Amino acid sequence: MTSQFPHLIDLNDHPVTWWNGLLSLGQEIMQNPMLYANSCRGKIMGTLFYEPSTRTQMSFQTAMLRLGGTIIGFDNPQTSSVAKGENLKDTTKIVSGYSDVLVIRHPTVGAAKAAALTAECPVINAGDGGHLHPTQTLTDLLTLKCEKGTLSGLTIGLCGDLLNGRTVHSLCKAMSCYPNNHFIMISTKELAMPHYIKSIIHANGCTYEETFSLEEAIPKLDMLYMTRIQRERFASDEEYFAQKDTYILTPQKMKLAKKDMIVLHPLPRVDEIEIAVDDDPRALYFKQAKYGMYVRMALILTMLQSTATTELLSGTVHKGVCCPNPKCITNQEYYLPKSFTGTGTTLVCEYCDERLLLEH
Ligand code: ASP
Ligand code: CP
Repeated sequence: MTSQFPHLIDLNDHPVTWWNGLLSLGQEIMQNPMLYANSCRGKIMGTLFYEPSTRTQMSFQTAMLRLGGTIIGFDNPQTSSVAKGENLKDTTKIVSGYSDVLVIRHPTVGAAKAAALTAECPVINAGDGGHLHPTQTLTDLLTLKCEKGTLSGLTIGLCGDLLNGRTVHSLCKAMSCYPNNHFIMISTKELAMPHYIKSIIHANGCTYEETFSLEEAIPKLDMLYMTRIQRERFASDEEYFAQKDTYILTPQKMKLAKKDMIVLHPLPRVDEIEIAVDDDPRALYFKQAKYGMYVRMALILTMLQSTATTELLSGTVHKGVCCPNPKCITNQEYYLPKSFTGTGTTLVCEYCDERLLLEH
């Protein structure tokens, strides 16, 4: 199914040249913001945040306001007619009809793609469950480009909740498209990076290793990407507390790192980076959040100017076959076509990337 609008559901739906164009435009806007102050005059951005957010929501909103546009939306679905039981399709259909671009964050995997299927304007994925967060990745790429001067040949440490952290999934998918990057995944066994992300890194020609030890990994890194243990994605508090506080970045650990290693974090921080680390000039997470506003300005502008179409579903609906992932949007919004790519006995859900083995 091809939509008549350009959407950003997964960065990898677009070529690397498109990402690079956004980064260059983001830099250009950062240097000359006043040149863009009226670029979106008369345009309206809708923001549907079904999940809490500070940075993504407010950086999108300020991005649009700084471009001369205006904003509508909700930051709590309980104050909208979602509380009366309205489904995702109807809410999206209505608000996209009021807007020129729609930004959506949702706790359910695949929700942004599902919204784009019937939206009447471009849709931007601002995070879908523990799956993807493409605009955080654009933020991270712009930070790396400006602060390290390159997106290639880097040793990238990813630490914390690699299983549920949508930021690290999107980041690995994107950074493995640039040559010679090496990933060191630092986590417990329970919160290890999903296999499908590791397969993508490998297929893209990059390398990775997995370790439990932050102390052992840190001296090798050009960039350390810390993440929060995603409490809201755990089935029980018991499982969460078993993982909490496994990794805490301290000034002592920073002493083991290279002089030019940078520390990024998508934020919010809970307690995985001690406050004292903030004073280290290598701690760039607050600056990173600001880069996010400029790259989102570039993204909004690009989406509003583009006449591109987007292929959203290219697979097949198999009679009686459902996605086995209970967190997939197709298991919450039953009207959605249950579309899978893949051949033979292995199918891949087009909304959540879950693998399914067909029995014959
Ligand atoms: N803010 C990021 C996200 O929404 C990371 C986090 O919440 O820990 O995915
Ligand atoms: N980085 C990020 O997505 O932050 P918020 O959850 O506060 O939007």
